[in-house]
Amino acid sequence: MIKKLTATAALALALTTGGAIAAVTGGPIEDEDFSFEGPFGTYDQNQLQRGLKIFTEVCASCHGLKFVPLRSLADEGGVGFTMDQVRAYAAENFEVWDPDLEDGDGDFRAAKPTDPFPEGNDPNAPDLSLMAKARAGFSGPAGTGINQLVKGLGGTEYITAFLTGFTGEEMEVAGSVLYANKAFPGGWTAMPPQLYGEDVEFDDGSANDAHSEAVDVAAFLMWTAEPKMMARQQAGFVAVMLLTLLTVLLYLTNKKLWAPHKGKKLDL
Ligand code: HEC
Repeated sequence: MIKKLTATAALALALTTGGAIAAVTGGPIEDEDFSFEGPFGTYDQNQLQRGLKIFTEVCASCHGLKFVPLRSLADEGGVGFTMDQVRAYAAENFEVWDPDLEDGDGDFRAAKPTDPFPEGNDPNAPDLSLMAKARAGFSGPAGTGINQLVKGLGGTEYITAFLTGFTGEEMEVAGSVLYANKAFPGGWTAMPPQLYGEDVEFDDGSANDAHSEAVDVAAFLMWTAEPKMMARQQAGFVAVMLLTLLTVLLYLTNKKLWAPHKGKKLDL
């Protein structure tokens, strides 16, 4: 019976985790320690702020985050800006096209918290809002997804490996340059290397070597993809506690209901 149950459970696991998000990576991906991993993980506010800075100064020239409202930078459990900081950040960094300005002719104006992050300028650069959940770093063995169960999906690990995986080789294909990358599926990507270390400066002197920068911006992209992760984990924890309580109560009720009959059997 136990054997059968284990087999069924393993099969169910393989069907659910293996199929949904197949790993799409090229080379092996290193596991990284992120503060938000595990059932009680939380986002590291300072790390998200560093990641936002890297995104703004390095990535935003090509990539957009069009599904992320700027005002969510003030949400609890995330980047943790005050509304004033959001207003200043939006106005300083982004301009948006407003069709209502100039009597309906439209004009650019400074972004406001009610705007989303703008779309990117490079048409070949995908929007990064959901990228951390669209990619997976781990799979296997043999497509069962057991690694994902242990280490998580690894979208952030994949992004870290992608950003630090450039070998420096280039080749030209049909007029466009491709860059060799150890993590990118197929090994050649259209994105030029971005992080060399010391690409941004942090006021608090946080590490800005290429790997730390990659980890920070990957963490920030996890937040854009799942800003309510902490609320979800808390709700999940409460649900598990209530279900545990219910299980105990049902067990005790069951015992109580059957107690008289069980007693009789013993008397025989
Ligand atoms: C010069 C423009 C440019 C900049 C700056 C840039 N990217 Fe990209 N990025 C691209 C292009 C183009 C692609 C598509 C690559 C491809 O499909 O080969 C891409 C793809 C990606 C992908 C998806 C890779 C995949 O698996 O499909 C990620 C993740 C990414 N970029 C992250 C970043 C981050 C983080 C930064 C900032 C540190 C950044 N990019 C800066 C142009 C850029």
